[in-house]
Amino acid sequence: MKKVLFSMVIGLGMVSQANAFAGDAQAGKSKAAVCAACHGSNGIGTTDTYPNLAGQHADYIAKQLKAFKAGDRKDPLMSPMAANLSDQDMADLAAYFSSFNRDGSTAGGSASEGGQTAATAAPAPKFIPSAEAGKALYEHGDADRGIASCVGCHGQDGNSDVLINPNLADQHPEYLEKQLAAFKANTRHNASMNAVAANLTTEDIANIGAYFKDTSAVGEVKASTGKVAVKTLAGDVELGKAKSATCVACHNADGNSTVAMYPSIAGQGEAYLLKQLKEFKSGARDNAIMAGMVAGLSEDDMQNLAAYFASQTLKPVVGEENAAGHKLYIGGDAERGITACIACHGVSGKGMDNAGFPAIGGQHPTYLKAQLEQFRSGVRANDKNAMMQNIAAKLSDADIEALANYMSTLK
Ligand code: HEC
Ligand code: HEC
Ligand code: HEC
Ligand code: HEC
Repeated sequence: MKKVLFSMVIGLGMVSQANAFAGDAQAGKSKAAVCAACHGSNGIGTTDTYPNLAGQHADYIAKQLKAFKAGDRKDPLMSPMAANLSDQDMADLAAYFSSFNRDGSTAGGSASEGGQTAATAAPAPKFIPSAEAGKALYEHGDADRGIASCVGCHGQDGNSDVLINPNLADQHPEYLEKQLAAFKANTRHNASMNAVAANLTTEDIANIGAYFKDTSAVGEVKASTGKVAVKTLAGDVELGKAKSATCVACHNADGNSTVAMYPSIAGQGEAYLLKQLKEFKSGARDNAIMAGMVAGLSEDDMQNLAAYFASQTLKPVVGEENAAGHKLYIGGDAERGITACIACHGVSGKGMDNAGFPAIGGQHPTYLKAQLEQFRSGVRANDKNAMMQNIAAKLSDADIEALANYMSTLK
């Protein structure tokens, strides 16, 4: 996990740098001649295993080219292709391919430049993939099996609003399946995707591929299990509740703190809560108040307390809108090398517990501000690979204030 997270941080750093180069689609066109053999001159892959680049987000294309060049993403065909590209080349190529529509047509014209769209008859499969099951999994995830829904990051029907999250719509399904298998096998590294794909079965992947053959062909679907999503918790909620009496004074009985300097812990990820409690105890997270609270707790107690508070529902605070905070949260700042918070904490601030990213939405801004300051000064240093400390080091007081206010408005 350490290594995966680390490579993600590097990868994210690269987005910022890629952004620093403005791409020129015209210049990209001549440079793209070498790509046409596989990706088509209009970005439509010439076979099922060559991904379409047409209309993909430029930021995403540039990020992938950097990853191939740096060796973070490996492919026998692409690695040598990317090796000789400069940052400017990558930006130009990204601008060129993203200027097409997703079907390879240009804004005014048709897809006449050639390349073929997918759809050669596949050999009869033993398992018949279900596009409906694929869509259900895509939209609802499967809480029982620890699979997050994909919509939050990749958008409705695979049209992503977040610039570093790829569009999946109109991509070759075979290619998407191959990538999911690579994330699952850990041969392609991305913390979010490795966590998501780890729990996907071969059948799930085939189902998702079937859905992406033609997303418009599938009508409305219900959650795949047909059950209301239930959180599965490792600890015992009842035993945790029984132990929580000493926490009430500051975090309230249901984990929704009413005092701005005490965090709400209701609905926070169980693994994250457990990590914090253990680290308050070991001193890895240095806080005198909490150290006293956990000193007498056993590992089981902490696990159960984490389960109890994770099972509660967060009552988000009424935050103050903040435009500067919003911009920094979703876009980062390429010039100052600040990674977008959205990459780890999510569009709606819910985090991703199985990747170790806490929920920060609806939290007291006073607490959020204090934590960012502590990461910046190094008082809080319990983050893996210093991923928050590295980011916080680049934040000004005004940034922290703006971000804390914005995050508190997320639901
Ligand atoms: C010989 C064939 C070939 C050539 C030439 C080629 N590519 Fe690729 N490209 C591939 C293959 C195969 C993949 C998928 C790799 C994988 O499965 O991870 C790929 C993947 C990519 C991706 C990642 C797409 C995604 O959705 O993640 C980008 C971006 C890309 N290529 C850009 C380029 C550019 C720009 C050029 C020209 C400079 C180029 N490629 C030349 C075969 C090629
Ligand atoms: C927390 C956000 C998040 C969630 C949830 C998520 N993804 Fe992703 N996904 C990403 C990011 C970020 C990338 C790009 C990784 C990279 O930069 O290499 C990605 C890449 C992919 C790719 C490779 C696309 C390409 O062009 O190479 C596929 C396929 C994919 N995701 C499918 C899924 C499916 C299916 C689900 C749901 C089961 C899902 N994702 C859930 C963030 C997410
Ligand atoms: C006297 C007040 C007080 C009591 C009682 C208390 N806490 Fe805390 N708790 C705090 C403060 C203050 C912080 C923030 C520490 C910091 O700034 O790092 C905190 C932080 C936490 C965090 C980290 C939250 C996050 O988002 O990182 C967890 C988890 C937590 N407390 C759980 C508990 C549990 C479980 C109990 C009961 C066993 C408890 N607390 C009792 C004051 C208290
Ligand atoms: C590469 C992933 C990553 C990025 C990007 C990221 N964070 Fe974090 N963040 C984390 C992790 C991991 C933790 C939890 C560290 C730990 O285990 O205690 C965290 C913790 C936090 C916390 C403390 C939460 C709590 O309950 O105590 C805040 C606040 C926070 N991040 C804000 C931000 C902001 C603001 C940004 C963007 C400027 C950002 N993060 C970007 C990974 C990330």
